[in-house]
Amino acid sequence: MAKTKTAFFCQNCGTQYAKWVGQCVACKEWNTIVEEVIQKEEKTPWKNAKITVDKIKPLRINEISTEKELRLNVQDNEFNRVLGGGLVPGSLVLLGGEPGIGKSTLLLQVGLKLPYKTLYVSGEESQKQIKMRADRIHPNNDTCFILTATRTQDIFQHIEAIDPEIVIIDSIQTLHSDYIESAAGSISQIRECTAELIKFAKATNTPMILIGHITKDGNIAGPKILEHMVDTVLQFEGDRNYVYRILRALKNRFGSTAELGIYEMQGDGLREVSNPSEVLISKNEEGLSGTAIAATVEGMRPLLIEIQALVSSAVYGTPQRSATGYNAKRLNMLLAVLEKRAGFKLAAKDVFLNITGGISVDDPAIDLAVVAAILSSNSDIAISKGICFAAEIGLAGEIRPVQRVDQRIIEAEKLGFSTIFVSKNNTISLKDTRINIKLISKIEELVSSLFG
Ligand code: TYD
Ligand code: MG
Repeated sequence: MAKTKTAFFCQNCGTQYAKWVGQCVACKEWNTIVEEVIQKEEKTPWKNAKITVDKIKPLRINEISTEKELRLNVQDNEFNRVLGGGLVPGSLVLLGGEPGIGKSTLLLQVGLKLPYKTLYVSGEESQKQIKMRADRIHPNNDTCFILTATRTQDIFQHIEAIDPEIVIIDSIQTLHSDYIESAAGSISQIRECTAELIKFAKATNTPMILIGHITKDGNIAGPKILEHMVDTVLQFEGDRNYVYRILRALKNRFGSTAELGIYEMQGDGLREVSNPSEVLISKNEEGLSGTAIAATVEGMRPLLIEIQALVSSAVYGTPQRSATGYNAKRLNMLLAVLEKRAGFKLAAKDVFLNITGGISVDDPAIDLAVVAAILSSNSDIAISKGICFAAEIGLAGEIRPVQRVDQRIIEAEKLGFSTIFVSKNNTISLKDTRINIKLISKIEELVSSLFG
């Protein structure tokens, strides 16, 4: 028997050392170096001779076929869009997200909707538990196989027996390989298991989707190299207390990372939201002060969202400022601009800001709507229902142009808005719009047209 080999790994960045050190040279973290047993065998983890790696030889660049890569339609428009038009055969997709956000639900749902033979491998839940969940989502299906396993060698054996067209792994942190002796979830295990899965996916042209846990600070748990190894990294995010979830691509070798998908968590799984603007705006008929609609663009999609502000006299000495779904520093900056450039006395006021639907937005074009909502709450005058806003605000109090303004205007018009406020400096190439486009350059102009 070969001598057991050990090595030291940084638990933060995955750098390998021959001996223990106090500080990682690569990422400068202290006390992150841990000894792990490594034992490599020069064998492929699967034995079946049917699977052979294609002989790869160098080709002249002109000889490489550029035929459109065939993609598997995952029967879910939002998922397809984020993947860049479907799942590429032989690719590895990593889906990260906070616990309880709905990663397992999303992928089980994808597996159940697919008309292809799918294998869903779970290391976290029993077959019974998954069946109970599946009954809620999509009761009748006879192409989806459920397997509870954590050893990669077992998983490959079952894959060979079932021969699925898509494999889903929930989650990569629960897997372990016999070739490595350290515990499941450790850096070397995650790296080894992912490497085995990649080898298998590329050799058999089977696409795989892996679920990845994330750490406290929002990164995918495990070595950073995990994200380099896979073809696509997706993130599922949202506020657990609300129903909306956003699926984003952080890295995509086969498509744009600007696309995003929106879902609504319901009692029977995740529903695709194809008209996000309509659901994110409340249907209140009577005008309430403190609300304003922003025409934003998230990824590639125009999205109208509602901003709510509450301005009230501070009860305690220090006024409170809090923002949900919006950068609190940016809120403070806008308040300072209102105070200094537009003469509003807000220094002794509590200001609370909320973006409805529990989604968070970092499009600077919502500044104008934020300011409008604050001023509306401050003066207790409601903004009329047909108005929306799309502009950034600069430190001098100037209304700045935003990108893709045409797209925002079209979306606002489509949803029946009668007026949109944008910057005077925006070049608008649209002609014959029904919507009234108000061009402004200063906050004063906004105030006089909204509140007279
Ligand atoms: P889950 O997919 O287990 O999250 P993750 O795998 O990311 O940890 O999602 C769990 C939550 O989703 C749970 O709190 C219940 C909720 N849920 C629904 O609201 N409706 C449903 O149909 C399902 C299956 C789950
Ligand atoms: Mg889960």
